[in-house]
Amino acid sequence: MLPFTALAHPNIAFIKYWGNRSDALRLPANGSISMNLEGLETRTTVHFDASLPADKVKINGKIAGGMALARVRMMLEEVRHLAGIYLFARVASENNFPTGAGIASSASAFAALALAASQAAGMRPFPCAEDEVDSHLTAVLPEGQPFDLGALSRLARHGSGSACRSIPGGFVEWAAGSDDADSYAVSIAPPEHWDLVDCIAMISADRKQTGSTEGHAIAATSTLQHARVDDAPRRLGICRQAILNRDFATFAEIMEEDSNLMHAVMMSSHPPLFYWQPATLAVMQAVRAARAKGLPVCYTIDAGPNIHVICTQAAAEETAKLVGSISGVRDVRLAKVGGPARLVENPSTNPH
Ligand code: PMV
Repeated sequence: MLPFTALAHPNIAFIKYWGNRSDALRLPANGSISMNLEGLETRTTVHFDASLPADKVKINGKIAGGMALARVRMMLEEVRHLAGIYLFARVASENNFPTGAGIASSASAFAALALAASQAAGMRPFPCAEDEVDSHLTAVLPEGQPFDLGALSRLARHGSGSACRSIPGGFVEWAAGSDDADSYAVSIAPPEHWDLVDCIAMISADRKQTGSTEGHAIAATSTLQHARVDDAPRRLGICRQAILNRDFATFAEIMEEDSNLMHAVMMSSHPPLFYWQPATLAVMQAVRAARAKGLPVCYTIDAGPNIHVICTQAAAEETAKLVGSISGVRDVRLAKVGGPARLVENPSTNPH
């Protein structure tokens, strides 16, 4: 079989996913909304090869073992089952940004893996309804072959929940759904809809101590999680509408409220999870002060100390300067709104 290479961007959630209804299926407690991050990417090549005695996985040039290998194998198993093939695979995956430090590397990793592995296993097209076809993704697939984005997003979700949001392009919503079949992500607006920029303040590039898989599993031990989940439809509605209207003031308030709520749950779970460092809080305060003075900026924080400062393109230079001047911020990376997961044009590996 032929190797395939796929590229996917990580995403930053404005309305966060935290906690599962089913840990095994990664069925989320609540829906979420995000944007993909251009310029940050995972590239993954998958080759199902009859000569291999076992799956071989390399991540950032190193042979993978332990949990990372187990999670990749789990997805390969699912793809083999869906495609009806019995071959082991060689997988090589590279990130161009730090792994496991609050930029969702697992999202881009499992989105790229789901696309590359399904294609390498010959799953073209996914069985799908015509009306589910996404124009961004079909643009990189052979003409006339519809591709079921929903099925691909679901497959990615099984590897890492937020990975399902890295399949479609631009601004994306993942519906909590009622079961495995309807819990997947769709694009709510293309990248060019709103010129937002994520100024990512890098406070630490170390691997976080408690990964999100363990974090989701203890979310319900916080007495605040119920209230957070019950209120999620309100926050989703406000955020979705603010994006569609390009209403920055409303967007900023709801995004910060949602991030603060998630961290309140994290801090009050058993055991408690504290992801912030002093510099994280210093950036939060500086961002709120700058917004009070009229700069269109707001923040959101994932399961790590790094802080994502979202602003408009017009405010990006001033925002990057402000964030970069705060003590404890080592670096600022800028990312515009990114496109969907896609196959990399490479005639030697992707035969179309
Ligand atoms: O997909 P996971 O299991 O890495 O969970 C992601 C959790 C957060 O990044 C904290 C929030 C989100 O919605 O991305």
